[in-house]
Amino acid sequence: MSNPASVAVFVGSLRKASFNRKVAHILAGLAGDSLNLEIVEIGDLPLYNQDLDDEGTPPVAWTAFREKVKAFDAVLFVTPEYNRSVPAVLKNALDVGSRPYGQSVWSGKPGAVVSVSPGAIGGFGANHHLRQSLVFLNVPTLQQPEAYVGGIGKLLDDEGRLTNEGTRNFLAGFVSDFAAWIAANRKG
Ligand code: FNR
Repeated sequence: MSNPASVAVFVGSLRKASFNRKVAHILAGLAGDSLNLEIVEIGDLPLYNQDLDDEGTPPVAWTAFREKVKAFDAVLFVTPEYNRSVPAVLKNALDVGSRPYGQSVWSGKPGAVVSVSPGAIGGFGANHHLRQSLVFLNVPTLQQPEAYVGGIGKLLDDEGRLTNEGTRNFLAGFVSDFAAWIAANRKG
């Protein structure tokens, strides 16, 4: 396909061996030529403090992040659940990108959420808390299929490849539906 949409991928874990990061790479592989997925790092963003925007002295890392995200067509969040909610590092990235007021980098970009957990519930709480913020941030978010990937500890080999055919098929379908969602909701 020519001119595939560019998708900024945000991983809600900073752990070296993060399952979520592995799933993000798997999704990028499954996308093939249909979407151009790129992980945008969020671990070096200073905690959001409105004073710095109000005083016109935003940290360089905030400004670079905002400029980078603006250039993408769509956004994808791949996140663990921390205490039944969104990990602070990901919420911080959402907050940084949402300001200064009126200059949010998120508004209007089609998006999707994948939550990944070793547990049985598949990060449902994080997935839906994140969706609450995305409603406010005006990110039209893929509704179906919902992606709660549970039991991830048993779905990958030592190289981070999927060993489960059903999960692979599910994620391939997810990517395909997300590509169609982006095409239908993409700006410009
Ligand atoms: C967790 N974990 C977790 N898992 C879950 O399914 N529901 C939860 O509410 C929580 N809460 C939680 C809080 C904190 C502070 C940590 C560090 C962990 C376990 C979590 O799913 C597990 O560590 C995953 O491996 C995290 O994802 P990554 O880092 O592998 O991508």
